[in-house]
Amino acid sequence: MKIVLLGDLHFVSPNDPDLAQRQDRAHFAEAWPSFDAVVKAVRKESPDMIISVGDIVDYFSPENLAFAQEQLSRLPVPCLVTPGNHDYSGASSRAEVETAFSKAGFPLENRVLSCGDTGILLYNTGLSKEETDACPWLDEHLPKHSRNILCTHVPPDLPQTREAILSVQPDKPLAKYVRQLGRRPFETLLPHLSHVFSGHVHFPAQYRVATTEFQLLPLSVRAANRNYPGMGAIHTHDLTQKTTRHIQLPVIAG
Ligand SMILES: [Fe+2]
Repeated sequence: MKIVLLGDLHFVSPNDPDLAQRQDRAHFAEAWPSFDAVVKAVRKESPDMIISVGDIVDYFSPENLAFAQEQLSRLPVPCLVTPGNHDYSGASSRAEVETAFSKAGFPLENRVLSCGDTGILLYNTGLSKEETDACPWLDEHLPKHSRNILCTHVPPDLPQTREAILSVQPDKPLAKYVRQLGRRPFETLLPHLSHVFSGHVHFPAQYRVATTEFQLLPLSVRAANRNYPGMGAIHTHDLTQKTTRHIQLPVIAG
């Protein structure tokens, strides 16, 4: 069984009515044509499952969500989403986003997909720290499978995560870019986890803590006139072989 993992996408609809916001966020508003390369590469991989680690829109609006839905519908199998902070950004309430995403076919709640002895956990870190840090959900669900793969937007707060971020971007405010996940220290959850995939930081990094492989995913689209390290990439994970592959996408001239 093969999973394709997508990093941040930050779709902005050409029809979004907030012109000022679209201009302000032009680097993402003009990034969507590069999604063609993502579609092409994902089709070639013929995955059984596709997972986005969040920020499918740059800011919430019905137009941006409809546009993201339209783009993601080009993929060969439905894309599962665990949300990022940008998916909630600009909405009047958490409920507004979650209702709209659910109607669009993207439920955002925490969930476990059982694949034999492996649990694939989609864990919502798009919400504020207060809403996720003390959440017992991970502690409860990780022991249910002998092996688990965690997909979540904000990377877990571990010394190795901090080091990986600061080695690429020494000025990055860590409080914003890492998160204590679950009630217990994250280290105590590691024996349950074979792989952790996150987005949010907009650059690629790979590191291992004990027996857990961590992968920070770069943007899967290419921002316009702005360089994010490693942007324009997807990852695959083979559940049987337990291997992860980084695929850098070619730039398709528009
Ligand atoms: Fe993002």
